[in-house]
Amino acid sequence: MSDNNKIKKPLRSAQWFGQRDKNGFMYRSWMRNQGIPEHHFQGRPIIGICNTWSELTPCNAHFRELADRVRRGVLEAGGVPVEFPVFSNGESNLRPTAMLTRNLASMDVEESIRGNPIDGVVLLVGCDKTTPALLMGAASCDLPTIVVTGGPMLNGKHKGMDVGSGTHVWRMSEDYKAGLISLQEFMDAEADMSRSAGTCNTMGTASTMACMVEAMGASLPHNAAIPAVDARRNALAFASGMRIVEMVAEDLKLSQLLTREAFINAIRVNAAIGGSTNAVIHLKAIAQRVGVELTLDDWQTYGQDVPTLVNLQPSGQYLMEEFYYAGGLPAVLRRLGEADLLHKPALTANGKSLWDNNRDAPCYNDDVIRPLNNPLCESGGICILRGNLAPRGAVLKPSAATPALMNHRGCAVVFENFEHYKERIMDPDLEVDATSVLVMKNCGPKGYPGMAEVGNMGLPPKLLKQGVTDMVRISDARMSGTAFGTVVLHVAPEAMELGPLAAVQDGDMIHLDAHNGLLEIDISNEELQARIAQLRVTRKPVQPGGYLQLYIDHVMQADEGCDFDFLVGCRGAEVPAHSH
Ligand code: FES
Repeated sequence: MSDNNKIKKPLRSAQWFGQRDKNGFMYRSWMRNQGIPEHHFQGRPIIGICNTWSELTPCNAHFRELADRVRRGVLEAGGVPVEFPVFSNGESNLRPTAMLTRNLASMDVEESIRGNPIDGVVLLVGCDKTTPALLMGAASCDLPTIVVTGGPMLNGKHKGMDVGSGTHVWRMSEDYKAGLISLQEFMDAEADMSRSAGTCNTMGTASTMACMVEAMGASLPHNAAIPAVDARRNALAFASGMRIVEMVAEDLKLSQLLTREAFINAIRVNAAIGGSTNAVIHLKAIAQRVGVELTLDDWQTYGQDVPTLVNLQPSGQYLMEEFYYAGGLPAVLRRLGEADLLHKPALTANGKSLWDNNRDAPCYNDDVIRPLNNPLCESGGICILRGNLAPRGAVLKPSAATPALMNHRGCAVVFENFEHYKERIMDPDLEVDATSVLVMKNCGPKGYPGMAEVGNMGLPPKLLKQGVTDMVRISDARMSGTAFGTVVLHVAPEAMELGPLAAVQDGDMIHLDAHNGLLEIDISNEELQARIAQLRVTRKPVQPGGYLQLYIDHVMQADEGCDFDFLVGCRGAEVPAHSH
């Protein structure tokens, strides 16, 4: 940015560094203790590098080098890089769930951007919740913004077999419980699964959200799939650092990328990649921050008939490494565009349309990225269910479900909460068979604060030993993007809010008809209301205090994106001046 005339409007950072007075002195002077030369304060864009690096977030533990590559790109383009840390909510370590702190991290991001002399921002994201958290916070400020994802781990390699993050943990755990493998065999896979830096190598939530970002044009092409340790990931970070400086000059704001059309593209891409159900919640939360209307019905309208093309675990066979080598998301976008399933003019971070970026993208492996006439799943979009058991909706991922269970009637086996499930599921005398429907309550946004990923309840060991591999499971919880099965999630309103789920009892007949979007319990409305009225009498208020209290008091339901009610909407980046 040596030619300042290219800048469309005065730099925001000039409010701090552009003044020849006492305040300007103080803003500049303290920054100078880092050795920043005088000319860096003279009209150069200040680029924030928002870093979720943490050794407690192993998926993002390589971000210091990534940030350095962004920094080099910013400098080369004439900007001034300033790196700042934000809360890093890593999926694997944080208890009870990283989702509990997604909104907290977003607040950290929002206020860090708004309160500081930043003209544009690069978001370094990777592990599941870091992507929506940073996008939500940045969307509330609406500065020029570009996303750089950390990239997936290399394929896990175990005894000559490729093993996928998460997906193989669920599979091998069930195999162990069924007596098919020993505990030692299970444990031996531990080091083999995670053998390089990066995020989960399956199409879990991290990879899904990386694809959502690329589909919405908030990153450069290929951001989603380049492996974390591939040198091209560093080159992309460098290029993103260069590009954000231009975006500031062009005043290309995040809201110009995150349009309703971009979200609809993301919904279709989610179907095509066999993406995580968590995307339903995160996209809603991001859309709300930027003021875009997005509903569960949009998933039905735009996503449901889109075929799943990407043959990756947990829905399919391969891992993210193969996805990148096969052409990555650009190849998927081209296939969707050729089938008229994209809003092609949607603007992207490099200033070109989504279609201009991807219209010529090659595909090198038609088994990894299937053509439309040979999909992995014909109707791969997230299925939205409604009915007297889920008046405000529930979700199911068809590409990871058992087709024969998509229309199923069965008797409920009810768990009042996750602890009750853990205790009861091991009972050899539990009255359950393969046709039963496992129902778990009180794991929603307020019930298990944070809405833990426990919806893919492991099957009863006695049925596993009989060779049962899937059952219908229903809850107000979420499920890991790496998980699979005929699992109905996000039932809203949740049981803790005395939604109908709270009223289900052992033996009630449940009807799931995914093809027609139905989730019903076969009891009368009067009976349902009587049971809920009874629960209302006995329910005690929960008052844990602290952040948990804030969370419970303000978190919205799953169909509303689980954001805090007071964070919805874009408040922009303007902030009152402070006088030293
Ligand atoms: Fe971090 Fe999967 S646990 S991406």
